[in-house]
Amino acid sequence: MSTPPPTNPPIIQGQLPAIAGTEPHRCVMDAFRTAIASQISRVFPSIPLEKAYEGVDYSKKDSDFTVALMRFKLGGKPADHGARFKEAFVADEWVESVDVNGGFLTFKCHSENLARQILGQVDELTNKTSSGQGEYGHSDVGKGKKVLIEYSSPNIAKEFHVGHLRSTIIGAFLTNLYKACGHEVVSLNYLGDWGKQFGLIAVGYEKYGDEAEMERDPIKHLYNVYVKINQDLKAEKEELEKKAPKPEQADPSAAAATSKPDDLEKEEVEEEGERKQESQVDAAARAYFKRMESGDEESLVNWRKWRKYSIEQYEQQYKTLNVQFDEYLGESMVSYARQLEMVKQLEDMGLVSDSKGAKLVDLEQWKLGKAILLKKDGTTMYLTRDIIGAIERWEKYHFDKMIYVVASQQDLHLAQFFKILSLMGFEWAPRLEHINYGLVTGMSTRKGTAVFLNQIIKESADVMMEQMMKNEEKFKQIEDPEYVAREVGITAIKVQDMQAKRINNYAFNWSRMTSFEGDTGPYLQYAHVRLSSIERKNPDLMPLPDLSSINFAHLTEPKARDIIFQLGMYPDAVRTALKTREPSGIITYAMKLAHSISSAWDVLLVKGESDREKAKARMWLFLLARAVLGAAMRLLSLTPLERM
Ligand code: ARG
Repeated sequence: MSTPPPTNPPIIQGQLPAIAGTEPHRCVMDAFRTAIASQISRVFPSIPLEKAYEGVDYSKKDSDFTVALMRFKLGGKPADHGARFKEAFVADEWVESVDVNGGFLTFKCHSENLARQILGQVDELTNKTSSGQGEYGHSDVGKGKKVLIEYSSPNIAKEFHVGHLRSTIIGAFLTNLYKACGHEVVSLNYLGDWGKQFGLIAVGYEKYGDEAEMERDPIKHLYNVYVKINQDLKAEKEELEKKAPKPEQADPSAAAATSKPDDLEKEEVEEEGERKQESQVDAAARAYFKRMESGDEESLVNWRKWRKYSIEQYEQQYKTLNVQFDEYLGESMVSYARQLEMVKQLEDMGLVSDSKGAKLVDLEQWKLGKAILLKKDGTTMYLTRDIIGAIERWEKYHFDKMIYVVASQQDLHLAQFFKILSLMGFEWAPRLEHINYGLVTGMSTRKGTAVFLNQIIKESADVMMEQMMKNEEKFKQIEDPEYVAREVGITAIKVQDMQAKRINNYAFNWSRMTSFEGDTGPYLQYAHVRLSSIERKNPDLMPLPDLSSINFAHLTEPKARDIIFQLGMYPDAVRTALKTREPSGIITYAMKLAHSISSAWDVLLVKGESDREKAKARMWLFLLARAVLGAAMRLLSLTPLERM
């Protein structure tokens, strides 16, 4: 076997070979890994440096890094290779020691240099950046790439349910994540602002609408109108049912093919098959929407207002959640003419069949069922709009990736329109990606089921306020309890949501998530607040000398070292998150860091430490830990608090 001899430059003090794909200037752990890889590659010349590097992993415990020599297929006995490595290993400023167990190598980094390098990097990339908030953990991997992220996307005049809340939370995280990794991100909110239900609301508005109410609380008023007109509709249908015998199902497969969970169009799809004797309200709604979709100006006047007011109100609420969008799109904005053309094109391709006047696309051969594209009266569907919607976004943005953050209940729907786009021959179709998530059960406020976003925010603030008031002494010291309660409450909701893998379902639990104990949002905020208080509590140590003049030997005790090592791991946690698109990894990271910090308070004294140099070194450590914890929290879209 003749692999070309790898280049193994000798290790010079402070200088390491550059390995493609590593970013030691942003993630100094890359430098430590490179140092280990260099030694492996030097001792075993058949292992190229890059390959050796790939084999360096974090240790589970007791050491910093491990390498399993078996993976390199060196032939012979692993234990012999291990022994050979131990013989040839040279301690340097990066790696202090190696332990060998058969073919397993475990490395310990040079503690003082670990502190110097990691803390130096955190300082440089946070305190010394122009934003002052920092870029530690950021990278350039996405440079030059454009990513569209569509999330939240509630339906006007309907409830803002937990599914939308999850999409909002996960989407905000992904937006921050892609930005942190150098991508250009465009965040989109695709409102459910179209479809027959808007004809229904229009009919309802004529009966129940109230301009003043509408201006005061548009989201609530529209919802109330919608609920009332739906009651009328239901009553009317029940009447009809009593009179008429049950009609036979026309094409049950069409009804089954719908995948939109919150019934926006489910009823419509069913009716497509069933409709025989239509209720008056229904007929009026249908006719109204038909007018809207054909562009009849008069029918759109009110609808425009509803949309505008709703967006304004949503914008405020999103702001409270620390979420913003570059663009508010909506199903209404998708070109009607192009949808009709598209159906024609699919018809020519032989994919469309006629079901009593409705146009049905057949994706059975890809196990994606059948779905309605156009209704009998020629109006469009959720699916139809998504297809052209994607094309229009492509034309406008030429994205490298477009992410849809939508509940897993809509897996089929997304798979259907992704498939249709690729059948239509768009070579960018593989750039679309569905980031899905599981169900949440049991979110209700004490007054009943929460249907609006502001109710959810308010309830979390109220519950949090009660928690805080339990500690009277502390509560008295809080400057702005309203603000703190709201921020911590929102943190509680977000952390609960992002704690487990996206695809898992979870049960909403107010008391668990707002507790200060356990891995909760309040716990994280508390950890950050405590770190923030250290300067206030130690004015005699201020101002701190420049980090470079700190004696890092003061930071080699196990508790300090442990925190430092974790700080060094943050850029890796961000990289992993970019691969998995799982916020849970960052939550786990932040929780572990918070635990290490809280277990260090009684050991790494600052106030009670008589050696002032040591006290200052520790103070630096805690301040930089705060910077990293804060960075992780901001990545999660949380607002780290200074006091609470
Ligand atoms: N408005 C939809 C709903 O509430 C979600 C939209 C998801 N995005 C999309 N492009 N289909 O169910």
